[in-house]
Amino acid sequence: MTGQPDPPPPGALDAEPVAAVIVLAAGEGTRMRSARSKLLHELGGHSMLSYAVTAATMLRPEHVVVVVGHRRDQVEAHLAEVASHVTTVVQEEQRGTGHAVQVALAALPALTGAVVVTYGDVPLLTGDTLAELVAAHRAEAAAVTVLTAQVGDPTGYGRVVRDRSGHVQAIVEHRDADPSQLTISEINSGIYVFEASALADGLAGLRPDNSQGELYLTDVLAAARSAGQTVTAYPIEDVWQVEGVNDRIQLSRLNAELNRRVLERWMRAGVTVVDPATTWVHASVDLAEDVTLLPGTSLEGATSVAAGATIGPDTSLVDVEVGQNAVVIRTHGSLSVLGPDTSVGPYAYLRPGTRLGAGGKIGTFVETKNARIGAGAKAPHLSYVGDAEIADGANIGAGVVFANYDGVHKAVSTVGAYSFVGSNSVLTAPVHIADGAYVAAGSTITSDVAAGELAVGRGQQRNIRGWVLRKRAGTKTARAAAAAAENDGGPA
Ligand code: UD1
Ligand code: CA
Repeated sequence: MTGQPDPPPPGALDAEPVAAVIVLAAGEGTRMRSARSKLLHELGGHSMLSYAVTAATMLRPEHVVVVVGHRRDQVEAHLAEVASHVTTVVQEEQRGTGHAVQVALAALPALTGAVVVTYGDVPLLTGDTLAELVAAHRAEAAAVTVLTAQVGDPTGYGRVVRDRSGHVQAIVEHRDADPSQLTISEINSGIYVFEASALADGLAGLRPDNSQGELYLTDVLAAARSAGQTVTAYPIEDVWQVEGVNDRIQLSRLNAELNRRVLERWMRAGVTVVDPATTWVHASVDLAEDVTLLPGTSLEGATSVAAGATIGPDTSLVDVEVGQNAVVIRTHGSLSVLGPDTSVGPYAYLRPGTRLGAGGKIGTFVETKNARIGAGAKAPHLSYVGDAEIADGANIGAGVVFANYDGVHKAVSTVGAYSFVGSNSVLTAPVHIADGAYVAAGSTITSDVAAGELAVGRGQQRNIRGWVLRKRAGTKTARAAAAAAENDGGPA
């Protein structure tokens, strides 16, 4: 391609800040078919709009202005939450991209220097790319620099019309293009850097003399060119970065691409991802070398996984810290901390406040909540461990329930070091089992157990001789009992 500026110097983000970034976000987004603003739909754990605002903010602009319109209450509330430094400007009626920028400028003090215009629905665009665009613009001393891309199917996009020497002449919308312009495959991304004065002059001259009767921002380029100013294009190879989201199909495509990029980064950093197609990792997650992610794993929020740990298959962790060499199988967890060499699952449910010490185990069909489980302690099977403090080396038998709720209050129970809670026991909170104590299987524990004691909290077993033959005469069970008695030579 001709007219491509030199690549920007490294560290373009350290360059002089820009005057303003204007993020266009007033459109309706009808094709999402959603009660929610299109811009609030998420990929990789963040709204589309928050990506745009994050990229914009990386240019350290004096002003970040988001032009809002449709569903602006939702958009404004969201921005107040995730990006309180941005200003919003209302475009009551969407009269075109040029009109949107007019509305934004009217709300700002007079600007000098570079003004960047971008869209709220182009989530893969990075701050680095915007910085490169600004650097290219400055290197060319241009009045306008437009980010462009070569695409296989340019249908619907504005085409970049260049003259014989390769200089950008104009951008022509698909609907307004003639047959020869329609064959141009270099498209306008809709992302630009303008010199503030050229932008103001160009906007002042816009006319809605096009097929849509709108004020086209793109006409500012032709105006600058006619005024003898430099208009350049900065083509980007990575077309994903300029792809917008109009419907949920595009949203899922971009989400998958974003995820693919995150996974590739981790694979290069020494993480094994067995099945990238079913493994979802948000950008906020931190992974160490020799972590293995098995199929169906989803890691979100402030989740971190230390070296050598294996997660999955079919595991979702949000804000979970996983220690070295831990193994977490088929588990759903949030706000929990798993120590090194721990083992969790299959089929564990870790609710907030779970902390498992080094070498400990939370096993199959075990639910935990607000539970500190010490080093080497184990709850291997079929348990509910809620509001519990379990010391090192304790063993929680199969089916133990920490009954932590009396219908009004919750209370904490404790189990001391190396104590043993027999299977199918219920610990009715608050109870305290001291270090080195035993609870017999099937006990209902309602009072404390001291060190060295065995607590038996159940009815005495009675065996009623001859009951089956008397009460179940004629059944297969009774016949089996009679046969067994005959073999033993004793009464049934
Ligand atoms: C625009 C460009 C086109 C480019 C394409 C890239 C113009 C005239 N055309 O076309 O050259 O290839 O983007 O996607 O600029 N918006 C407002 N207020 C408005 C109109 C639009 O805020 O009055 C916002 C929309 O919410 C959207 C963005 O601007 O985020 C682009 O608007 P859209 O209508 O999608 O522009 P296109 O016709 O696709
Ligand atoms: Ca569009």
